[in-house]
Amino acid sequence: DKKQQDELKNKAAIRAAELVEPGMKLGVGTGSTIAFFIDALGKRKKEEGLDLEAIVTTSSRSKKQLEKWGFTVNELAEVDQLDLTIDGADRVDVNFDGIKGGGGALTMEKNVAANSEKVLWIVDESKLVDRLSGFPLPVEILPISCEQNFRRFRNDGLNPSWRMDGNKRFVTHYGNYIVDLNVDPIPIPRGLDDYLDKVVGVVETGLFLDMCDEVIIARSDGEIEDRE
Ligand code: A5P
Repeated sequence: DKKQQDELKNKAAIRAAELVEPGMKLGVGTGSTIAFFIDALGKRKKEEGLDLEAIVTTSSRSKKQLEKWGFTVNELAEVDQLDLTIDGADRVDVNFDGIKGGGGALTMEKNVAANSEKVLWIVDESKLVDRLSGFPLPVEILPISCEQNFRRFRNDGLNPSWRMDGNKRFVTHYGNYIVDLNVDPIPIPRGLDDYLDKVVGVVETGLFLDMCDEVIIARSDGEIEDRE
């Protein structure tokens, strides 16, 4: 049930917070698991005076929570290179490739991850897959050519659907749209990534390939597993 799952997320989040070292430049993601992580980090600040050189985060929700604990949040562009980023993910495969962007913030999440020495994801066991599957792939596209690109994806068999917000199209932080590609499983993630890279008007995709270095897994048997 939810209470049990929350306890497990909390345990995994505490484990991740233990990996944060004083003086680090830290990236902090978003989501229900990361909310536990921020509290665990805040407790370390309160109890042992954990001091970080910089913190960057991927949502206003995480920012507020970090500030509540007294952390100062920086803009990514102000920080040279992050030492470690801790985030959630929507799917992770055996190679640590993943799908992110369920929350629509993939562009920010990917920029933070790409500028991080090390990336760690905290996930529950249900998100671990052999091949990337079970979750539509979000793609952020510019409004200027969105209809053409939607048709292109449809014609190329990628089963696109518009991300909605009520009865309107969902608009990202950067004023763009999100198209969810219903490709399940994704046969060749690298191939799809290359294809999407070449489409003019694609801002970013939720495919995070070769980015994640370590995964902390909250297992349904109550154990926390750390894979590197
Ligand atoms: C997607 O990019 C992310 O925002 C994930 O959806 C999120 O980090 C995972 O959230 P939960 O921890 O709530 O599953």
